[in-house]
Amino acid sequence: MFAANRTASFAKRAFSSSSRQNTRVAVLGAAGGIGQPLSLLLKLNPLVSHLSLYDIRLAAGVAADVGHCNTPSKAVGYGPEDGGLEKALEGAEIILIPAGMPRKPGMTRDDLFNANASIVRDLAQAAAKVAPKARLGIIANPVNSTVPIVAEVYKKAGVYDPKRLFGVTTLDIVRASAFLSGIAGTQPKETDVPVVGGHSGPTIVPLLSQLPAGKKVVEEGGETLKQLVHRIQFGGDEVVKAKDGAGSATLSMAYAGLEWADALLRAMNGESGVKLCTYVESPLYADKGCEFFSSPVTLTSEGTVGEIHPVGDLHPSEQALLDECLPALAKNIEAGKKFMA
Ligand code: NAI
Repeated sequence: MFAANRTASFAKRAFSSSSRQNTRVAVLGAAGGIGQPLSLLLKLNPLVSHLSLYDIRLAAGVAADVGHCNTPSKAVGYGPEDGGLEKALEGAEIILIPAGMPRKPGMTRDDLFNANASIVRDLAQAAAKVAPKARLGIIANPVNSTVPIVAEVYKKAGVYDPKRLFGVTTLDIVRASAFLSGIAGTQPKETDVPVVGGHSGPTIVPLLSQLPAGKKVVEEGGETLKQLVHRIQFGGDEVVKAKDGAGSATLSMAYAGLEWADALLRAMNGESGVKLCTYVESPLYADKGCEFFSSPVTLTSEGTVGEIHPVGDLHPSEQALLDECLPALAKNIEAGKKFMA
């Protein structure tokens, strides 16, 4: 539920006659480490009818390549020349933005702010102009700040609808599921850990006590719990280190991005009660400076933000994590707003 699970139902849905299977999706930053596998996974999704792949380099090549997969959707690549960005955005109903620099060893996500804030701002300006009604999934880091930047861009353009703007935090949920099931010996797909807060280090708050396998680990406490929480919060560092300067998580992020997009696609195709943890404008901790917060969200039939659920019962150790998250997240949100001021 929280991981927006269900990639496995692809095959079944491919034969469903009730699906509208005609959603246009745009990926901005489509030739990158995330963009390429994400474009491939979207090409395989039967609910996508058209893929617009935009990048400042190589997008035509990625589109030609994934375009040879024998699935019904069309893939078209666009570069920055001849109004390519605007063309890519025309008619888009879901826009995913993985454009921007990834981390190198030793960097935090906040270190990416200077490089990525203006990239995301400029792409959002185009999206606000050409496809203001599209649902936006922001992958580019630091997500805690880039989402508020996009909100400000849309406000300035007079088209802001908070129900259509999402930060993609799904990788944290995917990691929590993988790591906990590894310890507990449970099926990853049935080990659905809600992860709330934001998307960087201490702002990532896994609520392990809310499922039986995690509750046991939380109640036992000690090193196992400490290491598990640390691994969920800083799992990205493992990948950055293992790739040794060649980038950060791309394949698992593409998988997570697909899970996020698939949740919206399913909701738009008539599945009711689709629920996922995602970073949205939220009233939950707005009084603590966190105008944006990730918690379980039920999607509407339009694939937009419906009910925003509170975090639920917390173990004292989780309350402590949340207490640590809020001031750090508030600072990240403020940085995004300041950039646009
Ligand atoms: P990458 O460097 O491999 O790819 C980025 C792509 O963006 C490149 O193809 C580049 O040409 C393109 N790009 C740069 N400026 C652009 C612009 N103005 N318009 C369109 N495209 C542009 O990086 P990677 O590994 O794909 O990561 C992308 C972003 O995703 C990074 O900011 C990274 O930190 C973030 N990320 C987010 C995660 C999450 O959980 N939300 C997880 C992992 C990475």
